[in-house]
Amino acid sequence: EKVTVSVIKADVGGFPGHSEVHPDLLEACEGVLEDAVDEVIIDYYVTRCGDDIDLIMTHTRGEDDEKVHELAWNAFQEATKVAEDLKLYGAGQDLLSDAFSGNVRGLGPGAAEMELVERPSEPIIVFCCDKTEPSAFNLPLFRIFADPNNTAGLVLDPSMHDGFEFEVHDVIDQKKVILKCPEEMYDLLALIGQTQRYAIKRVYKKGDGDEAERIAAVTSTERLNLIAGEYVGKDDPVAIVRCQSGFPAVGEVLEPFTFPHLVAGWMRGSHNGPLMPVSEEEAHPTRFDGPPRIIALGFQLRNGELVGPQDLFADPAFDRAREIANEVADYIRRHGPFQPHLLSEEELEYTTLPDVLKKLEDRFEDLEE
Ligand code: 13P
Ligand code: 13P
Ligand code: MG
Ligand code: MG
Ligand code: MG
Repeated sequence: EKVTVSVIKADVGGFPGHSEVHPDLLEACEGVLEDAVDEVIIDYYVTRCGDDIDLIMTHTRGEDDEKVHELAWNAFQEATKVAEDLKLYGAGQDLLSDAFSGNVRGLGPGAAEMELVERPSEPIIVFCCDKTEPSAFNLPLFRIFADPNNTAGLVLDPSMHDGFEFEVHDVIDQKKVILKCPEEMYDLLALIGQTQRYAIKRVYKKGDGDEAERIAAVTSTERLNLIAGEYVGKDDPVAIVRCQSGFPAVGEVLEPFTFPHLVAGWMRGSHNGPLMPVSEEEAHPTRFDGPPRIIALGFQLRNGELVGPQDLFADPAFDRAREIANEVADYIRRHGPFQPHLLSEEELEYTTLPDVLKKLEDRFEDLEE
């Protein structure tokens, strides 16, 4: 009765520029996944946020399965052919290798996968972002699973009252650590506040049960720019969160997104901007290639089948968050090429700075003291 939900994503071409995925690419992916139903996967749903294609798949093969990853790889290859044919922008952008070699990790696509023991009722939410990076989930995941001001269940629900464990990845040194909340909350915050280095990879319910029973959330944490060694685009992330009956309610999982917090990404992957929650329909970032977007799709699992989706941010209750995001966008855009709108030097996806410094080398003089 274990089911795996795999969300594997890639940007294989934008339409136009980096704004959206052309519908023909989604159709190409659907064709590949449809042929694999009952062979490799149980069910699937193909969506997109901005220029990123998100393949939501269910199966019983576990996480990191070669067949499932190959299927996603093949879908992206087919979509790339269509993108090349249409001469879309950045065709094949996130596919950094010519050949598949067992797992999409390190090849460019991002993956969030969760093996779970399906409960009598299993509500899940799949989040997909564009124009930002995996640590954009740090603040909302903290609020959902550790902040009683956000999540009433931490106080009220006896089955959540003990709290949750956070698996945090150091994406630069490739190390991980597990921290428990509420008792290690300040240590956790000391790490995950540093969004350029630490990203929450998984959240577990506390206890000694099977991981597939305790798993509460998972994100994609690939750092595409570091994998490639040079700029190939921000690794626009995805996440899966389980809801209800010992996990936060659907509305508790969505609540942090009423605050459009600042995240890194946006234009040229090099600017801070507000994360705007939008419907699938409105997930085509255009203003200054943004602002960064997030969609939330709700499903109920039925023996691995995806019942849904429900487009959860297509709710007037999130209009105010969108208004605030627009106000913040106006405000921060007026900084032009200055920090903190611009990211710090190490976080820039590309820069002329080394060339400028080289050119001015002879003209720099020591300060007299
Ligand atoms: P209902 O009374 O609508 O079922 O809502 C219950 C609940 O817990 C909402 O958070
Ligand atoms: P993507 O990472 O979504 O491709 O965006 C890159 C970019 O340069 C946007 O301006
Ligand atoms: Mg792109
Ligand atoms: Mg993108
Ligand atoms: Mg990208």
